[in-house]
Amino acid sequence: MRIGVDYYPEQWDETMWEQDADRMKEIGVEIVRVGEFAWSRMEPTEGVYDFAWLDRVVQIFTDREIDLVLCTPTCTPPQWAFEKYPEIIQVGADGAKIPIGIRGHRCVTNATYRRLCEKIIQALVERYHDNPRIIAYQIDNEVEANHCRCEECTQGFRAWMQKKYGTPQAVNAAYRNTVWSGEYSSWEEVKPPTAGVLQWQNPSLTLDYNRYASDSIVDYIEFQRQCIRKWDATVPITTNNWFCENMPDFYDLFEHLDFVSYDNYPLSVLPEDEESLYSHAFHLDLMRGIKQQNFWIMEQLSGAMGSWMPMSPTPRPGMIRGYAAQAFAHGADTVLHFRWRTACSGAEMYWHGILDHNNVPGRRYREFAELCSWAKKWKEAEGAVIQNEVAILYGSAQEYAFKLQHQAEGMYYLEQLKLFHDAFTSIGVGVDIINETASLEQYRIVIAPTLLITNEEVKDHLYHFAEDGGSVVLTNRCGVKDSYNCCIMQALPTVYEELAGVRVEEYDAIGSHEHDLQLCDSAWKQVHGEQSAKAMQWCDILAPTTAKTMAVYGPKGFSLFYGGRAAVTCNEYGEGRAYYVGTVMNRSAYHSLAQTIVEETGVSYRNDLPPGVEVTVRKKGQKSWTFVFNNTMHSQKIWTGDVLQPFEMQVYPEK
Ligand code: GAL
Repeated sequence: MRIGVDYYPEQWDETMWEQDADRMKEIGVEIVRVGEFAWSRMEPTEGVYDFAWLDRVVQIFTDREIDLVLCTPTCTPPQWAFEKYPEIIQVGADGAKIPIGIRGHRCVTNATYRRLCEKIIQALVERYHDNPRIIAYQIDNEVEANHCRCEECTQGFRAWMQKKYGTPQAVNAAYRNTVWSGEYSSWEEVKPPTAGVLQWQNPSLTLDYNRYASDSIVDYIEFQRQCIRKWDATVPITTNNWFCENMPDFYDLFEHLDFVSYDNYPLSVLPEDEESLYSHAFHLDLMRGIKQQNFWIMEQLSGAMGSWMPMSPTPRPGMIRGYAAQAFAHGADTVLHFRWRTACSGAEMYWHGILDHNNVPGRRYREFAELCSWAKKWKEAEGAVIQNEVAILYGSAQEYAFKLQHQAEGMYYLEQLKLFHDAFTSIGVGVDIINETASLEQYRIVIAPTLLITNEEVKDHLYHFAEDGGSVVLTNRCGVKDSYNCCIMQALPTVYEELAGVRVEEYDAIGSHEHDLQLCDSAWKQVHGEQSAKAMQWCDILAPTTAKTMAVYGPKGFSLFYGGRAAVTCNEYGEGRAYYVGTVMNRSAYHSLAQTIVEETGVSYRNDLPPGVEVTVRKKGQKSWTFVFNNTMHSQKIWTGDVLQPFEMQVYPEK
């Protein structure tokens, strides 16, 4: 495992650089990431470059055999660029330009901005590409889907629509625009959704707009990738990914990039409820699933988080080391910590790094140094892969459609995925979170939660997967809509009815109400230890056609009128089977269901894991390493007899 730091030499007096690099060398830092916001230092006025300072920085690290990740500084254009070319400023959904002086507020499709980007990228890459210490490029910083509403982006959206539909009449037909006189008679009428109340806008338009916004940022990343490739044909290129309000489609974003990198800021105080314990693992598994390859952490928690909000508690002892090790266990071979030293100026001065403002090595620094030594012990496991038998499907269209129109109070798309991830993780079964259209060949169990927007390819994959002997888990809100975000006029789960062997007769969005659930499948009941569970948020009232009933709504709770009706079913299909979970259950019911499914499928699992303890296995050739991580605030005894302190990782190598 390789450990690095994010370093901003331009924010510190030059006299500090050597001391910083010496300290890094001394404790075993192997990589630094530089340059990501330093455009004004690289190009103080248009066309006038100053790389002398960066030359010195690169030399200092090269002399100490520390590798570098070089970033394109395009997230923060210099002030002169905004002054000279105000058209590069991003326009918000309200039609007003976003105030400058912050970051990320440039329009990524603007031709002038792109010309400026191309020039700075050329200058940077031409200068440094033959330094063998430059081991990767990072494009920009934490990009979001492009929701700019400037004239160029509006035209871009229209062109995207024209390409997809051909004529305004075809849009009308696809969107069924007769509602509220929404029919278009010319392309000029086709406009991005505005800042008005989102839920009052045409959901077909808002979904397509989200798709366009994603394609648009993917195009920008591809533009930068090609700029870099003109001057450097080989060094791997990435961009640092995150979970944000306007998420791009991750699979498109990384399709042409060489590897995924992710900014990982786990909480410094774990929530009281056990349901969130595996949330960090979920995000890491999702990142690994993007390219179904190992990935990097480009920014990792190093201190109290603040500036955008009141400061968080500082990471507890063990967290800096443990969370980095956790990322490694989930497939991140390289982890860079954000940031080497806490900024003394600028908007981010309360987002803490390894060193505090005072620059005096303290507790977190010592722990980080221990991490650097620990990481060196596991060099051999670098590149080892995770091969799981269970996958959860994720789709950006589902994410968008859920956000655009909430289904029930408290019901969120990612949370629905997490419920299953949590259940399998808690019994030691590794899970890949993959694109809904990905091949399912390597898996034995595939969970397809809330496939709200149907997609022919996904549907075909799932039917074939079950036919060939796989176990599919479908849930409520599957098959609701076509790809234009219009409801399918057919009994739910529409295209999945045959696979699931059930019909939804009626549904009830109970939100924060609860209803009693009675398990009637004997295997499930036995694992669960009791008959009762809870139904929450959503209740499909099921009429099984060929499926057998596994659970029914009980006689108590919010919705007495469907007591006794089926809620969870299982259908034999082809050589395999399809479970249908028509409601949202309490945590222990997911756990026992997961165990029932793995037992029926023959996937191995553990029933002796204390809550919050994670197990992952990485393999390389004949060798394998079992990672056991205690993601809780208290010590836990595991099956080996070892007691793991809070956030402690134990690795058990096997030959
Ligand atoms: C990340 C971002 C960094 C820094 C950090 C802490 O999301 O990429 O540049 O802002 O958060 O706020």
